[in-house]
Amino acid sequence: MGDRWYSEAVVYCLDVDTYVDSDGDGIGDLRGLIGRLDYLARLGVTCIWLNPIHPSPNKDDGYDATDFYAVDPRLGTLGDFAELLHQAQNRGIRVIIDLVVNHTSDQHPWFQSARSSPDSPYRDWYVWSDTEPDDRHQGMVFPGEQHETWSYDRTAKAWYYHRFYRFQPDLNIDNPKVREEIKKITSFWLQLGVAGFRMDAVPFIIEQTEPGNPNSPKDFEFLTELRQHVQWRRGDAVLLAEANVEPDQLSVYFGDGGGSSNRIHMLFDFMLNGRLMLALAREDPETIIDALRDTPKLPMGAQWATFLRNHDEIDLSRLTADQRNDVLAAFGPTEEMQLYGRGIRRRLAPMLGNDRRRLELAYALQFSLRGTPVLRYGEEIGMGEDLSLPGREAIRTPMQWSFKPNAGFSTAEEEKLVRPVIDKGEFGYQKVNVTAQRSDPRSLLAWFERMIRTLREAPEIGSGSTSHIDVPAPAGVLAHRADGPTGTMVFLHNLGTDDVEVDLSTLEAEADLPIDVLSDRGYGELGKLGAIKLSGHGYRWIRLCRGQGF
Ligand code: GLC
Repeated sequence: MGDRWYSEAVVYCLDVDTYVDSDGDGIGDLRGLIGRLDYLARLGVTCIWLNPIHPSPNKDDGYDATDFYAVDPRLGTLGDFAELLHQAQNRGIRVIIDLVVNHTSDQHPWFQSARSSPDSPYRDWYVWSDTEPDDRHQGMVFPGEQHETWSYDRTAKAWYYHRFYRFQPDLNIDNPKVREEIKKITSFWLQLGVAGFRMDAVPFIIEQTEPGNPNSPKDFEFLTELRQHVQWRRGDAVLLAEANVEPDQLSVYFGDGGGSSNRIHMLFDFMLNGRLMLALAREDPETIIDALRDTPKLPMGAQWATFLRNHDEIDLSRLTADQRNDVLAAFGPTEEMQLYGRGIRRRLAPMLGNDRRRLELAYALQFSLRGTPVLRYGEEIGMGEDLSLPGREAIRTPMQWSFKPNAGFSTAEEEKLVRPVIDKGEFGYQKVNVTAQRSDPRSLLAWFERMIRTLREAPEIGSGSTSHIDVPAPAGVLAHRADGPTGTMVFLHNLGTDDVEVDLSTLEAEADLPIDVLSDRGYGELGKLGAIKLSGHGYRWIRLCRGQGF
């Protein structure tokens, strides 16, 4: 892999406390994860993103830290973390961690000191107002669960700002000491050997909050400063940001200094995520074609990160009312599947009716579109959700490793588990687990291994350019191509249910011994690129030609 390793990476996101428990206390830990690195290496993952690992009261699954320089003792020690980095590196796997610095936990010593007195050295590390701000009830990220963004603190005798839950007071980015501290946090983890950060809530980090102004200005220069700092400390470190903003805003986050990205390297493609969900729901690729057409040209070094599901709900806020209704009707028809009407709290396998054909189609599509694919633990075996758990916990149940009690996740008594294991129905661990799938060459897991291997043999998918191909194709079929120095790949995905034929003859002149490198079934020799067969919900990845010298 070259310097821009992240363009050709396969990222796997996991939460240490639900992955695997090595000491039998019911909570997943770093030593457990170290023991599963071989599994991840075999899957073909090249980068792991760890959800927050810091000490935390865990009122928001660790996104509420009380110490940015330590590992939560529930998960292990800093020594275990260093060992994880070493062992991962031995297997060619990089590790990135969540950088959650928009806010701290209200239990963080900084906030405890800040609230205790106006003279505290930490007072100005947070955002205060002596009077009740007019925009107190605006800008909530969690409407339904959160009722205000300014809360009164009796100890401080002042109002403090919190974009998220009230126990997550926002840090004050206007304070140079806070800016320095954030850089110091990144230095610390880079020095230990992480390959970068998944930056949480970036649009809010850079918010220069003014009480009473729901549209406070943003300080994008901080992102330039941080990028520079991180890059000086480790040349190949990466920033992968969560910035769920309007598409025309995204380029400001990538930054452009003389044609090269000088802020965030990679942004999660939330817009594409919503459109993928819509396309799958309607069995119509139109919105993906729009997305491919509308994608702005990125500055050098900038990259999208694609995903189908993450650890949060599916956010439908960027779809129109009609579009949203179609996605909800297909994937989240009942209220318990929804999160206060703003999204869907389900995993992909149950959303697609556990239909293997549709699952393969969805992931083949995600992995063949421009950008770096991000997979969340459990997706590779088609795990389900537990809707009896509150909110987003439904999709955060322990990894299902085997037929053993607690899915082989932990040997603790059931009551001690960090979260219950799914043990009933179609998605119960008795039916869905790694051990069963590992011994079955036709399993979803085996398919993922094959698909990822194929992807790694076709670097133009991650680092080349991707475009829609306008060939005579029946409704429901998406045809697109990826071009790079290593060659050209052509992809056909049939979102519809009918078997069809796609006419690829216009590509014949470019084809140099075209072959299927991945497909839903054996279609026989390709030969000439005439009318190509494609099953309902089928897909074909075709290598059209190799680049010179490859
Ligand atoms: C991000 C995380 C989410 C968390 C929130 C507050 O949106 O993805 O899980 O609750 O930030 O930190």
